[in-house]
Amino acid sequence: MSKYKIAWLPGDGVGIEVLEAAKIVLDKLNLDAEYIHGDIGWEFWCKEGDAFPQRTIDLLNNVDAAMFGAITSKPVKTAEAELVPELKGMGLIYRSPIVRMRQLFNLYICLRPCKAYPGNPLNFKENIDIVVFRENTEDLYCGVEFNPVPQELADVLTKLSKPFSVFSKMPLDEYAVSTKINTKKGSERIVRAAFEFARKFNRKKVTIVHKANVVRATDGLFFDIAKEVAKEFPEIQMDDANIDAMTMWLLKNPYNYDVLVAPNLYGDIISDLAAQMVGGLGFGCSGNIGEKLAVFEPSHGSAPKYSGMYKVNPIATILAAKMMLDWLGEKEMGERLEKATAEVIAEGKIRTYDMGGNNKTLEIAEAIAEKL
Ligand code: IPM
Ligand code: MG
Repeated sequence: MSKYKIAWLPGDGVGIEVLEAAKIVLDKLNLDAEYIHGDIGWEFWCKEGDAFPQRTIDLLNNVDAAMFGAITSKPVKTAEAELVPELKGMGLIYRSPIVRMRQLFNLYICLRPCKAYPGNPLNFKENIDIVVFRENTEDLYCGVEFNPVPQELADVLTKLSKPFSVFSKMPLDEYAVSTKINTKKGSERIVRAAFEFARKFNRKKVTIVHKANVVRATDGLFFDIAKEVAKEFPEIQMDDANIDAMTMWLLKNPYNYDVLVAPNLYGDIISDLAAQMVGGLGFGCSGNIGEKLAVFEPSHGSAPKYSGMYKVNPIATILAAKMMLDWLGEKEMGERLEKATAEVIAEGKIRTYDMGGNNKTLEIAEAIAEKL
């Protein structure tokens, strides 16, 4: 029996190709693992009305970790699903499987390291090394949304909220409501994870990202909790910034930042910005981490226009595999993988198109594997 069971979820488009690349390096490392394929993606939505079928959920309940490629997410409304013969009458609405997976398995930490590897021509500046902790289960991603708005909800809001009077006389199909729900527990555990990481890896500072000056209830709660948690880590400097100002400051002086922690949507935004500063889509790696399960992925999408071309940069996924090794406790393997990846980047001989080369996806993985 293998030491680890790993769910292997390629998904759609280039997700399949980048996972193939990750497999090359994991095999070269001789990780003692059994890889079990799981169905996920657009194809299963079209065929079965579920992009994340129950059998894949069952699989995830029985593995140590998972590698996930990418999926095509399209904003499909119930009305559109009704046009698909197989789905007619099911009253379905498409929800992103990765968002569902994060919530279903309580993968509350979204960890996104953004490091400028020396020699990467796509680095915005050298030596950037920022780690984003994004809350991964609540906030505007909670899926509590209404369009059109039910009369009962409009009635309650009319009764309870003064600012709502602007909308209360409007026809119910003239506006939509998406709720942002943030809990004390959810906020506390992500902030704590960020500070614990800072302590463990000798990071100097944790910056709380929010918009508490306007979004008072939810972001106010997040920020208040963050300040409380920070007191338990007196050796680590804490500061905070509004999400809008944060994007400017991060660009202006990335060296002022170390660990960032944010509610879900702001974390989504700021992690894309930070990833772009260290090379863009080909370098953004992501870990969705819970108590029992962790799912690692590149933060890019399925890139349908490149699908089947084996053209995209697999480094984000290879770095996600490195994160998985760390999470499994295979620290030495993780270090070797990162070192080999950094060497290939620095040498600059084998590069995908985004880095100015014309090598294919799997050639990058092979070049990295050769150094392992
Ligand atoms: C990410 C992506 C997802 C998100 C999409 C694909 C639903 O942007 O992982 O950052 O918004 O979380
Ligand atoms: Mg994103």
